[in-house]
Amino acid sequence: MSEAPPLAGVIGWPIGHSRSPQLHGYWLRTYGLPGHYVPLAIQQKDFAEALHVLPKLGFKGVNVTVPYKETALALAQKVSDRAALIGAANTIVFREDGSIHADNTDGYGFIQNLRQSSPDWSARSGPALVFGAGGAARAIVSALLAEGAPEVLLTNRTRTRAETLKDQFGAKVTVMDWNAAKSVPAEVATVVNTTTLGMVGNPDLTVDLSALDGTLVTDIVYTPLETPLLAQARAQGLPVVDGLGMLLHQAVPGFESWFGKRPEVDEALRAEILGA
Ligand code: ATR
Repeated sequence: MSEAPPLAGVIGWPIGHSRSPQLHGYWLRTYGLPGHYVPLAIQQKDFAEALHVLPKLGFKGVNVTVPYKETALALAQKVSDRAALIGAANTIVFREDGSIHADNTDGYGFIQNLRQSSPDWSARSGPALVFGAGGAARAIVSALLAEGAPEVLLTNRTRTRAETLKDQFGAKVTVMDWNAAKSVPAEVATVVNTTTLGMVGNPDLTVDLSALDGTLVTDIVYTPLETPLLAQARAQGLPVVDGLGMLLHQAVPGFESWFGKRPEVDEALRAEILGA
C-alpha cells in the first residue's frame, strides 16, 4: 500500500478568515506535491486533544492562530529560541518520536519580506520606529534586533505595554511617547506599523512623515494592501513595503517541514491571494 499523503492545517477559533489554506493549497498545486492543507475550527476545550490526535491521523503539523498561539507553546516539548522569546507559536511540527515542536515564524516572515521587497534595506543605518506593542510587535522587535538594528524606538497607545516589551529586550529599545512618535523623527530608517490602525473598519494611523527622506515605511496590515500610512508615504516619495509579503513568508518554514519542499514567494502567489 502506498503511503498516505501528508496532511497539515491551521487551527483557530474561528478559522474562516484564514488565508493559510489557500496559500498552502496554491503551493501544493504549483509543485504537484501530494498532500492536503485544511482549516481546523477547534474549540478551546478541544485544543490539547486535537494536538494529541492530529499526528495519529497523518498530520505532519499545523499552523496555529488566534486564540491558541500561547497555549500551543505551552503544550510543546521543544520550543525554538525565537518562539520562546516571543512567548507564542504559529507553527507546529509533529515529530516521528511523538513530540511536538513549536516555532514562531512571524519575525522571520517580516524580515524576509523586507529583504525581498526592498533588497537594499538595512536595519543598521538608523533606528527603527515600531508602532504597537502586541504579539506582532514583539515578534518584529525581536527580529529587528536579531538583524542588527542599532536601536528600536517603540511606541504604543497604552504606554505600559511598550514598557513591558522594552524590559524584555533591553537597552536597544527606547519607549517613545505615542503622540510625539507621530511626528516621525528624521533619523528613523524604518517605520513599522504593527497596530490594527489602517485595517478595514479601523481608524487610520495618522502620522507626520515630512521630516523623512529615504525612510522605508512598512505596514503589517494587508487589508487594504495600500493602507493610508503607505499611501501617504508613497505620495511623499518614500519607499514602502506592504504587509501581504509577511503573511506569505511566515508560511514558508512550515510548508517546508511538512511537505518537504521550500516554496517560493513570488508575484504569482501574491496575485492568487489577492484574487481571492
Ligand atoms: P497582535 O497580537 O496581533 O499584535 P494586539 O495584542 O491586540 O494584537 O495588539 C494590537 C495593537 O494595536 C496594540 O498595540 C494596540 O494598542 P493598545 O496596546 O493600546 O491596545 C493597537 N491598537 C489597536 N487599536 C488602536 C487604536 N484605536 N489606537 C491606537 N492603537 C491601537
